[in-house]
Amino acid sequence: MNAVNRVDIRTAAVIGAGNMGSGIAQKIATEGYPVILVDMDEPLVQRGLGIIRATLEQGVERGIFRKEAVEGILGRVRGTADWSALAEADLVVEAVFEDLQVKRDVFRKLGKHCRPDAILATNTSSFFVRDLAQVTPRPERVFGLHYFYHPAKNRLVEVIRHEGSGKAEFDAAWSFQEAIGKTPIRSADAPGFVVNRFFVPWLNEAVRVLEEGSADIPTIEAAARKAFEIGMGPFELMNVTGVAIAMHAADTLGRELHPYYAPAARLRQQVDARKLWDLGGTPDPSRLPAVADRLLGAAFYCAAKLVEEKVASVEETDIGARVGLRWAMGPFQLINEVGVRRAAVLANAVVAGHGLTVPLLLQHADPRVGIPIHLVALGQRGRLTSVWIQRPDAMNALNEDVVQQLENAAGIALAMAEHGIVIGGSGKAFVAGADIRFFVENLRGGTFQRIHDFTARGQKLFRTLSGGRRPVVARVQGLALGGGAELALACDWIAASPKAAFGFPETGIGIYPGLGGTQRLPRRVGLPLAKYLVYTGQILGADQALAIGLCDQLATFSLLDAACEALAERGPAVPRSAPRAPRDPSWKPVWDFFDRYSVDQILSGQGDTGGNAQLERAVKRMREKSSLALRLSERLFDEGCDLPLEEGLDLELAHLQEIFSSPDALEGLSSLIEGRKPAFAGR
Ligand SMILES: NC(=O)c1ccc[n+]([C@@H]2O[C@H](COP(=O)([O-])OP(=O)(O)OC[C@H]3O[C@@H](n4cnc5c(N)ncnc54)[C@H](O)[C@@H]3O)[C@@H](O)[C@H]2O)c1
Repeated sequence: MNAVNRVDIRTAAVIGAGNMGSGIAQKIATEGYPVILVDMDEPLVQRGLGIIRATLEQGVERGIFRKEAVEGILGRVRGTADWSALAEADLVVEAVFEDLQVKRDVFRKLGKHCRPDAILATNTSSFFVRDLAQVTPRPERVFGLHYFYHPAKNRLVEVIRHEGSGKAEFDAAWSFQEAIGKTPIRSADAPGFVVNRFFVPWLNEAVRVLEEGSADIPTIEAAARKAFEIGMGPFELMNVTGVAIAMHAADTLGRELHPYYAPAARLRQQVDARKLWDLGGTPDPSRLPAVADRLLGAAFYCAAKLVEEKVASVEETDIGARVGLRWAMGPFQLINEVGVRRAAVLANAVVAGHGLTVPLLLQHADPRVGIPIHLVALGQRGRLTSVWIQRPDAMNALNEDVVQQLENAAGIALAMAEHGIVIGGSGKAFVAGADIRFFVENLRGGTFQRIHDFTARGQKLFRTLSGGRRPVVARVQGLALGGGAELALACDWIAASPKAAFGFPETGIGIYPGLGGTQRLPRRVGLPLAKYLVYTGQILGADQALAIGLCDQLATFSLLDAACEALAERGPAVPRSAPRAPRDPSWKPVWDFFDRYSVDQILSGQGDTGGNAQLERAVKRMREKSSLALRLSERLFDEGCDLPLEEGLDLELAHLQEIFSSPDALEGLSSLIEGRKPAFAGR
């Protein structure tokens, strides 16, 4: 059985204060953790700190950070050339020169200076993690953490296990990536790991097309931008990230995998000439489709091959492309888009001449279904069966496909789980709500029935989650908004990380929470506080959520899985009845206000706030909401709270058409996707 992680990472260290190391340290400090930044001598340390300061100051100019925040972040970075400082670190990330000997020396030194329980990680791009783990006294505590440039900005990190890595240590390294706002994906200890395994050959294929004279650089750039919906084509990307880096990466892949991956001669020439690519010129439109086919074929072959070799899953490969490279679609989504038959033909056209054959995954895929891509994964997390939503780049938003897959996965988990079930999401958000575009498209298209069916299906699924044979725990590591908060409420228990945030923004977009929010929320936190949250859309952090009973337990990221297990030990929750008084006395003024006054009284200025600032803010916020949505929410709260939960939920569903057919719903939902303030009728 897998053990859950009980290694708590509080202090991190980074070795190597260069481009990557300084960025990794910056990100860790920005997310609130102390970090020790080590380099060979004091001037190099100072240079690294200077890089961090300069990057943060640019962030201030662009309005990403407040000026005061910069000093706070820098205050958490301790630069030193004294390795004895590493005794404090729970996690050390090595980011020194890409030289095996240098890195092995560093790992030997880490073995001496770090505590025996510290986790050691390498940011290597081209060496095997096992070759570094070998030189340490505790290889089970060594991992790869492969960040992408710029590591304070690019969310992706590949978490690499070698054969001797420990499970609990892996979980700790993984959870810490979530804690610092990263989107981790798993990789085997294989050449190029996940993303570089298809990205570097993609760059190389572009150079081959050029070398053969099939197209010039502007044509290849235009074809790539269009086919992959990206801002920069392969040549511009190489200019930005380093032409030599691309060549070295291709060299490694060519050496370890097959000569097909080795750099094109033209790439070597460019590196020898120490020149950037000349991007000038006009694309030749007649060549665009053929060039796109070459680039697609290269990506398809390499992605399918790495999955076939079990380096990563289909889903995590796609996440790698979307999050790390900002492709609009991952290689497998693209394969399904062009059709698996044609995808196999394109891949074959690229690799057949190199003596390679198309992976069976692609050859044998059923053309009617394509390659199955699971938006929801079923697995095991410690003792609990896990149901994981994996759409991190869409903040795990609920849409028809996600709900359908949740239904399947939860159905299996509920039937099979031995101990309990944990529901979670990958990336920064737990679930940031429902897919607003889907609502808008159906409202505009006059197909409300689809919205109804989607909501009814979601409600039905949510009704199965709690009070069953096995406890279901929501693992809320980040944002839980709207439908996401309602999903958490539908579980027996809610465990939250310090970065969890709960909110019900619906009335601000002209609707009400329709996935059980108007019924389960009052039964958890009491009717007046439920009204406060839904009427104002106020987002609560984890501490506040715990204080009012909106979640059951708070745990640091590294201990979150253990907290989920502990909650599951309590068994399924008994049906909740609404509390009659606030748990935390500091919420009494809010409780009393929303207990006493109706929506109409508050909107017409009859609610006496007694000068309480929180209440004044609440009233102000309510004036920005759809009054129609507020009134309907109030009705559902008042009429539903004395009914059995099931009947309350039916009531919520029964009013769905009323709210969605109102002009406020279309206005509110459209305003959100158009990024403007809504103008509601009938204020
Ligand atoms: N640059 C990228 O885009 C990128 C992306 C992913 C991974 N990586 C990997 O990250 C690592 C670092 O790359 P970089 O681009 O930041 O390199 P860099 O040259 O900018 O920085 C390396 C730093 O390590 C320090 N260093 C070297 N030997 C050391 C030692 N023995 N002890 C302490 N410090 C030492 C150097 O002084 C320097 O500050 C490499 O392994 C690289 O493959 C780089």
